Amino acid sequence: MSVLIKNGRIVTAVDDYHADLFISDETVTLIGRDLVIEADTVIDASGRLVIPGGIDPHTHIEMPFGGTVTSDNFETGTRAAAFGGTTCIVDFAIQPKGTSTLDALDTWHAKAAGRTAIDYAFHMIITDLPASRVQEMRRLADEGVTSYKMFMAYPGVMLADDATIFRAMRKAAEDGTLVCMHAENGVVIDELVRIALERGELSPKHHALTRPTRLEAEGVHRALAIAEVAEAPIHIVHLSCYDALHELRLAQARGVMAHAETCPQYLLLDASAYDAPGFDGAKYVLTPPLREAWNQKELWRGLRHGALDVISTDHCPFCMKEQKELGREDFSKIPNGGPGIENRMSLIYHHGVSGGRINLNRFVELTSTASAKIFGLFPKKGTIAVGSDADIVIFDPEREETISVHNPRTHHMNVDYSAYEGFRVRGFTETVLSRGKVVVDRGEYVGRAGDGAFVRRGPYGGAHA
Ligand code: URP
Ligand code: ZN
Ligand code: ZN
Repeated sequence: MSVLIKNGRIVTAVDDYHADLFISDETVTLIGRDLVIEADTVIDASGRLVIPGGIDPHTHIEMPFGGTVTSDNFETGTRAAAFGGTTCIVDFAIQPKGTSTLDALDTWHAKAAGRTAIDYAFHMIITDLPASRVQEMRRLADEGVTSYKMFMAYPGVMLADDATIFRAMRKAAEDGTLVCMHAENGVVIDELVRIALERGELSPKHHALTRPTRLEAEGVHRALAIAEVAEAPIHIVHLSCYDALHELRLAQARGVMAHAETCPQYLLLDASAYDAPGFDGAKYVLTPPLREAWNQKELWRGLRHGALDVISTDHCPFCMKEQKELGREDFSKIPNGGPGIENRMSLIYHHGVSGGRINLNRFVELTSTASAKIFGLFPKKGTIAVGSDADIVIFDPEREETISVHNPRTHHMNVDYSAYEGFRVRGFTETVLSRGKVVVDRGEYVGRAGDGAFVRRGPYGGAHA
């Protein structure tokens, strides 16, 4: 199957030019001006941006958490991702405490295989790591799982103590792999939660009040110090606030190999969302919580100047009905997480590029290329070049939409609300190719569950060269 994309404006993290693009055998094989070549499908991309498919390195599909399971499965979640211009996700498999991470990987393979619209890879959440299991990290890497997530939060559930974190980081440094860190002081947070509940402070906004920025900053500081001593690279996930960003910058200035991501919710939403009437604040019970609005400007600055490398979504959807409702009488029982996999590219294009905060190349870098480099997918993914996978998005920079759970063009996620309800965006994904196959054609899904394949990732790629 061959595809010729004509007359587009090709934008990568470093390029910006008008050319035609020829795809065969799932990869880009020719780029040039006015190509005259036979193709099975010809797409006219006049007036459109032709960009590498988005990579979302932080998703939780069909994940058991908070007494329930995230509401998107691998079919619905990846189809929604495709509609939004994302062509590869790195999802989190979870090791149940006391069990083998290799068994956990099998479990996640069974959930995803044959169901996805786009390519996918896995990180492994390591919840415990006795010395007898350390070798599993190498074996995971051999299976193409070259990054791990560890938690400083959720004591008794996910939390790994500092010794375990140090052990994992040393092994990662030896193997050329990468530890991702959920950096919040969960032990103190749990104490704050206990005090709040004792006082009868039960509503959703107390989720945010019991997770102050200082405790995220402390986690980031500690994680970076441990990585520094372990001489290991580290990736801080879902960084939400200036206090944490400040710690990141200090470590980067010392030469720590520290990467970090933030998410659209921290750039575009703020803590006033918890004042929504009734129980609606539960929509925004995610971790870390939304912060005071002034932090947003600092995060954009961090993205522009390079302290922050990546914009992921932390897509972790729970329906209000029957899921978020579990915590109607007690905020600590609200499953933590929010949806966003579908909206990332438009939101960041609109508020980032059109908003004058980042340029077009940086947009591609933050939403695709940097993740490909850090997580061992580059140059197969994350760019448009001869030999790269033909994961391509044809993006209409002029098309306007209003994001809403009621708008069939902006909401394909299996969740009963939108975190960005009413947000107007200019710039929208039109057509999406996953390894050369058109899966979204001018807004219509034409793919099949199973088009996507598992991607074995290479070693940590160190984007801070
Ligand atoms: O609230 C969130 N982010 N839930 C997902 C789990 C995590 O910490 O990423
Ligand atoms: Zn996390
Ligand atoms: Zn997450």
